[in-house]
Amino acid sequence: MKKIITNPSIIYTLNTKGENFKRGEQMSFSDPLEEHSIIIEDGKLKDFIPNYSIKNISDFLVIDAKDRIILPGFVECHTHSVFAGSRSNEFSERLKGISYEQISKKGGGILSTVNAVRNSSEKELIDELKKRVQKFISQGVTTLEIKSGYGLDFENEIKLLKVIKEIRKYFKIDIIPTFLGAHTFPPEFKDNHSGYLNLLTGKLLPYIKDNRLAEFCDAFCESTAFNASEIKTIFKACSLLGIPIKLHTEQFNRIGGLDSALSFNAVSVDHLEVIDEVGINLLKDSGTTAVLLPGVSYFLDYDFAPARKLIMQNSIVALATDFNPGSSNISNIFFIMNLAAIKLKMTTEEIVAAYTINAAKALNRSDEAGSLELNKKADLILCDCNEITDLIYNVAENPVECVIKNGEIIFKKN
Ligand code: NIG
Ligand code: FE
Repeated sequence: MKKIITNPSIIYTLNTKGENFKRGEQMSFSDPLEEHSIIIEDGKLKDFIPNYSIKNISDFLVIDAKDRIILPGFVECHTHSVFAGSRSNEFSERLKGISYEQISKKGGGILSTVNAVRNSSEKELIDELKKRVQKFISQGVTTLEIKSGYGLDFENEIKLLKVIKEIRKYFKIDIIPTFLGAHTFPPEFKDNHSGYLNLLTGKLLPYIKDNRLAEFCDAFCESTAFNASEIKTIFKACSLLGIPIKLHTEQFNRIGGLDSALSFNAVSVDHLEVIDEVGINLLKDSGTTAVLLPGVSYFLDYDFAPARKLIMQNSIVALATDFNPGSSNISNIFFIMNLAAIKLKMTTEEIVAAYTINAAKALNRSDEAGSLELNKKADLILCDCNEITDLIYNVAENPVECVIKNGEIIFKKN
């Protein structure tokens, strides 16, 4: 049966006129529609009709929007949600002045979470992950990316990817797995980098491709992780296997990651806190999405990415939590939006575009999600706000009352 969503106050369509992303100044237009209702058929957006033209409502299953605003479901395009343990001890060390990089160099950081993951069962990881996914859904997330990267050997990276696959059975949102075996070198390959690269390119990537365990391959180009030439070795293997790539890069140092990612047509480059003018220029008019993670700059208290410059240079900018136990123990997307406003100086319209259509673009999903356009998935949310500014103005508060995925109500606030 067809559905109709009646009585929204405003529908923010984020219409891209078929382009499926918003770059530069297009990010300022959220294309609001008033006095309209939404028709859904087969889980897709079929029509937006002016309220005066609604004739026979009995043909439809009616969802009353009760004067709430409607937005596309949020797309959370960069998370490390599957992990075990806590890094609160490192947090307190940092409060005493020891830096995140110093902690990594001492064998803590990512490797302490690797230790905790290796000592956890699939069931333990699933139980924790379920709660985290549910929290994202209650904030209006209808598409969620989750990376592996805390296993760093064959058995444990596959365990993490299987956990992500398994978790999809419990939820109706789209959950997208990314392989991040190149997060850092595991202790057993500390002095044998080529050995680990061989494991990644010769064994893990082909296995993951054959068993369809991940949709993207991500990596971390940084002085404490992989250098640009190691990154290129991994990306070459991905190209041969036809696996789309992403890269954590220009987080603390510029060591050639951005150039390598762009030369392999990365779907996204993420972090960019220390990107320079040359790098900003490389992203100008590029099809690669710049995913900014202001939660990390806040949590580690260092530079924020130059969002204004990137937007002014006509690039495609997305936002995400980077939720993980070490550098951004933040899963509140409304807090991230507030940081984007105050610290990245983004406008409310830009922030919404960055958390919907451009985040979908960072996951190769923008032809079906991220905006309310005909024939896209009916992924949308009803929020108790007067206008989109309230999403951000009410710092870290969750205004989402109802989440609709593929035309079906999957969450309702009591
Ligand atoms: O995106 N930059 C590398 N990886 C994560 C941090 C992971 C961790 O500290 O556990 C990030 O910030
Ligand atoms: Fe990350």
